[in-house]
Parts: sequence; C-alpha cells; structure tokens
Amino acid sequence: MHARIGWVLAAFALLGAAGAVAGDLVPVSHTDNGRRIFLHGTTASGRVVQNSHGMEGAGCAMCHGEDGRGGMMHGIPAPNITFSNLTDPNGHEHEFSNRRHPAFTRETIKVAVVAGLDPAGNTLNEEMPRWIGLNGADLEDVIDYLQALSKPHRRPSPGPERM
Ligand code: HEC
Repeated sequence: MHARIGWVLAAFALLGAAGAVAGDLVPVSHTDNGRRIFLHGTTASGRVVQNSHGMEGAGCAMCHGEDGRGGMMHGIPAPNITFSNLTDPNGHEHEFSNRRHPAFTRETIKVAVVAGLDPAGNTLNEEMPRWIGLNGADLEDVIDYLQALSKPHRRPSPGPERM
C-alpha cells in the first residue's frame, strides 16, 4: 500500500517535470526572444540586433511603449503596434506622417520592421529604425510578442475600448 502511494507520487513528479519541459521551458525561451527584442533590442542569446540607428540596448518599447500601445519620439508619434491594432481590418490613417494604409498581416509587419514600408508602400519616417539584424525566426518571435501584448489581461484594469 505504502509503496504504491510512493509510486503514484513519483509518477506525478515525473509528469510534472515532463509538463514543465514541454509546456513551459520551450515556449518560454521562444517568447523570451521576442520579449527581449521588444524591450531591449537584444536576442535571447544576447546578440544586439543591428538597426539603422546604430542603437544598442534599446528595443521597440523605447518608442512604442512597454505595452506597445504607442508613444512619442522626438515629437513624432510612434503608433500602437499591438498585433490586434496593426491588423485592424479598417487599417489606419496616420495624420502626422500623412499615411493611410490597409490592415497589416504578419508578412507586412516584417516588411515595416526591416525595410520601413507600410502595407500601402509608404515609407515610414526615419525615426522608425530599420531592424536589419532580425532573422526570420526573430521576426516571428517579435510578432508573437506583439500578439501577446494585444491580450487585454496585460492591463490591470482594461477599459472597454481595449477589448
Ligand atoms: C526610435 C524610435 C522607434 C523604435 C526604437 C521603434 N520604432 Fe517602430 N516606429 C517609430 C515611429 C516614429 C513610427 C511611425 C513612422 C511613421 O508614421 O512614418 C514607427 C512605426 C512602426 C510601425 C508601423 C505602424 C503603422 O501603423 O504604420 C511598425 C510595425 C513598427 N514601428 C514596429 C516596430 C518594432 C517591431 C520595433 C522594434 C523591433 C520598433 N518599431 C522600434 C519609432 C520607433
């Protein structure tokens, strides 16, 4: 009897450990890469992401805000880049830079981040760095992070307009 309980507990412990490996560690390192690039401009392996501004140690958050919901840099508005906002089916009109564009997709977000073009082909203001040091996997990770930022639970008290 006693021995059996011991076996069951041991099995639970093993399942728990396996769950941690399959359910936590792998996706966390993947998300971690996107989060680090977003916050600090460095990859999970510590590589500084090369960009047209020559910035080191600063990521998207510096201009677009830690929550990705937009900010100001040198008097130029840095838009809300949460995934749900970028992919809004109505697209956006950016009065300041006189740009109007349809909804972004994952592919056109990559073009904006690396080459500085919006989905209508408008050139983004130079204040937006061209992130030439991001490889395909890094870009997927950053976009996944923009998706995570879209979730309303990131905000302690989301207003109805955040839904
Ligand atoms: C130094 C400031 C700065 C940093 C850092 C920065 N951006 Fe930007 N970004 C801007 C500005 C300013 C604009 C608006 C340009 C315009 O309107 O022409 C912009 C525009 C964009 C757009 C287009 C949004 C739209 O609605 O058209 C995307 C996408 C974007 N940034 C993603 C990123 C990502 C991802 C990162 C990090 C890898 C990043 N940005 C880092 C300043 C910055």
